Amino acid sequence: MSRTPFVAGNWKMHKTIADAEAFVSGLLPLAGDVDDVQIGLAVPFTALQAVVDSTRGSAVRVYAQNVHWAEHGAYTGEVSIAMLDELDVHGVVVGHSERRQYFNETDADLRKKVPALLAAGLEPILCVGESDAQREAGETEQVLRTQVVEDLADVADEDLAKVTVAYEPIWAIGTGKVATPQQAQDACAFIRSVIAERFAEQAAQVRIQYGGSVKPDNAAELLGLPDVDGALVGGAALEPASLAGIIDGARA
Ligand code: PGA
Repeated sequence: MSRTPFVAGNWKMHKTIADAEAFVSGLLPLAGDVDDVQIGLAVPFTALQAVVDSTRGSAVRVYAQNVHWAEHGAYTGEVSIAMLDELDVHGVVVGHSERRQYFNETDADLRKKVPALLAAGLEPILCVGESDAQREAGETEQVLRTQVVEDLADVADEDLAKVTVAYEPIWAIGTGKVATPQQAQDACAFIRSVIAERFAEQAAQVRIQYGGSVKPDNAAELLGLPDVDGALVGGAALEPASLAGIIDGARA
């Protein structure tokens, strides 16, 4: 089963519109016409329109970093799917551990967000992953199973492969502490097996990214693993040459 690798940069709360435009000007000559790797940028709300405009016609796809599941309503500070769709974004990163940890995003929220995005034709990148304490306690598989099962519960079986899952062990995010290739492979294969319990053919097609301290010099090894289909990249996605190096690693 061949799955097109998918490398996405997650800028988190970095980059003004001017910074974002400078980044895109740097990235497009390096990776703007890559056609064997899907490339994404997860951009703060305020810079989405500028990045959609400046990447139009290139291979770079644009993602938001959060969305609300309701169509509209009294949810001060939130942004709806229709508001993002109007900007022509391709999808949204949901369930990032920083949102789960600091902003109380729950599996119950994700259970509504993921199918709502699919219904609007937007691609969800669903983040899952265990904490250090959970791994030490031998709970990794249980945590991943709960997140995958609950967050995808209301996605139709035949739509499962439209979701990208990002496996991001929390202890590896922004710490420089990378999962070993064995840990990354085992967790991604486990996630695929949980999806296969619902629909084996969709599980064979679903893309599973690894995230957590991916850099140009470890990308090829991680992205070459059989069940790792790309990367979700934080710190190393803030500079065009660094992200381009990781994209190259996905082609190796
Ligand atoms: P990092 O972040 O690459 O800086 O570890 C990954 C992420 O949070 O998606």
